[in-house]
Amino acid sequence: MCGIVGYSGEQQASEILLDGLERLEYRGYDSAGIAVISPEGELQIRKTKGRLKVLKSLTDNGRVFNGSTGIGHTRWATHGEPSDVNSHPHLGDRNTIAVVHNGIIENYAEIKEYLISKGKVFSSETDTEVIAQLMEYYYEKERDLMASVYKTISNIKGAYALGILCRDYPDVLIAARKDAPLLLGYSDKGHFIASDVTALLKYTREVSYMDDGEVAFIRKDRIEVFDEFGAPVEKEHHYIDWDVSAAEKQGYPHFMFKEIMEQPEAARSTIVPRISSGRIAFENFSLSDEYLKSINKIVIVACGSSYHVGMVGKYTLERLIKMPISVSLASEFRYADPLIDENALIIAISQSGETLDTMEAIREAKRHGSKILSIVNVKGSSIVRESDEVIYTLAGPEIAVATTKAYSTQLIVLNMFGIYLAELLGTIEKEEYIQLIAELRALPDKMSAVLEDTERIKLYASRYFNQESIFYIGRNIDYALGLEGGLKLKEISYIHSESYAAGELKHGTISLIDNGTLVMAVGTYGKLLEKTISNILEVKTRGADVIALTTDSHREAMEKAADMVITVPEAPVILLPSLGIIPLQLFAYYVALMRGCDIDKPRNLAKSVTVE
Ligand code: M6R
Repeated sequence: MCGIVGYSGEQQASEILLDGLERLEYRGYDSAGIAVISPEGELQIRKTKGRLKVLKSLTDNGRVFNGSTGIGHTRWATHGEPSDVNSHPHLGDRNTIAVVHNGIIENYAEIKEYLISKGKVFSSETDTEVIAQLMEYYYEKERDLMASVYKTISNIKGAYALGILCRDYPDVLIAARKDAPLLLGYSDKGHFIASDVTALLKYTREVSYMDDGEVAFIRKDRIEVFDEFGAPVEKEHHYIDWDVSAAEKQGYPHFMFKEIMEQPEAARSTIVPRISSGRIAFENFSLSDEYLKSINKIVIVACGSSYHVGMVGKYTLERLIKMPISVSLASEFRYADPLIDENALIIAISQSGETLDTMEAIREAKRHGSKILSIVNVKGSSIVRESDEVIYTLAGPEIAVATTKAYSTQLIVLNMFGIYLAELLGTIEKEEYIQLIAELRALPDKMSAVLEDTERIKLYASRYFNQESIFYIGRNIDYALGLEGGLKLKEISYIHSESYAAGELKHGTISLIDNGTLVMAVGTYGKLLEKTISNILEVKTRGADVIALTTDSHREAMEKAADMVITVPEAPVILLPSLGIIPLQLFAYYVALMRGCDIDKPRNLAKSVTVE
């Protein structure tokens, strides 16, 4: 969603801010702005609706501003339409304080009313403007910057990551955080703040993560951090080992295509370090054998594609560990008064580690005494810090809004944890365990083999990219795969799609099938193939065109029923979704490409959803 970058150092700030914002574009935004303090203490601001290139041309690529301390922001509108005036940074009405903000201020209306009664004049519809106005109000009364910051944050309710400038302090950048990610970056040439590490990779890999309630004063030569009571805090420094090129397109037409192609490597990076002497082991894993043997329920909580990983996991983990697994949308779980206690393990899945709904679901589970194991891609993210244990997906930075390699590596981690737990609980035969380890090792090469057949998928996409609606059907793991396939299509091509359990079609949805309707039938699970074929025949009888996805050995059977067939190599059933998802991702990609859609930045969507 919104992005923040800030800098105080020896270089011109504006170019660094614009470069950092460019690296945050992938998160989704509708307007952008920067503020830089001039050496004379003037707050220079440019902000505009639309893409960053508009801001760049308005500022001559940042050259119109002189100054080495500044803040930048990309906004994804919540309070107030996307417009120049609602864009960040926001100023107090005396032009003394400038603020950029990620999050939502819940009590902004009452603060605004109070400030208006004190004579403050507002210019935007945003919740953020009240922060700038309130801080300026306190600062003008007391002339104490630190006290004004603390007074302001103690009066606002909600979530915030803040970057703040005060024109009386031309070399100081202030940061504050509660329930929204913000990190500090350290370098010889100056210091940084950012909402996402990708904004800083070009300048530094040395970062620390701000915690809730903390306030930081950032200058060229030092960063001082204070806790919620104003006491100094020593921050732990972390080294980010992501490659800068991993966050660049490197000749690919889109990040999404690059990330689809990177899946075998991402899978290898995720699998190999977790297999040692033929057994699965997670480094420094703190959930004890005794604890894991005591659990009687697993609940997976997640949103979007991460939820779809959980849907696959329900089938695969129940099969492995013979224990009931429930999967809950995080946004529903948190208000459902869940029936969990200290014997329930909650698995939270999140690529970004910042999804607010998932975070709140974790907090709800903790209130019930349950432990949290998270599966996350971004190190140091908020969900990691609130979990009892984390297993990282080692997919590297994922830039395209539509997830691909993060989804694949989440699936792998979830299955590896299932196999690990099955061995511990004695619910898996030794031979099957050995076979699964061998198959996990072989998985990246099988994924590469699937990626060799892109031409066939492109051809099918060229036949159907003008469809108004596409149906995905499947049973068991194939139903879960269809959910993700359908979401990919909707997200990037804007074609309506329905994903149905194949047996459920005739209970209602089959009425929507007509001549020429495209049905994508997912049938990789051999045991249920005949049932899925029956469902294919049902829709074909009603005029549908069917593309079937199955495994190599079932091609012939599928060819008798479907119009077009795509196959993936054979694998144990729990690993099939890792192969089956690839053609579905490619199909959505090519359809979107042929429709001329903005694939990496689909309309209305954001990469990490930090509001409820
Ligand atoms: O970062 P998270 O995995 O928590 O994000 C959850 C969803 O917002 C995310 O999977 C979303 O559905 C993606 N855009 C799917 O491509």
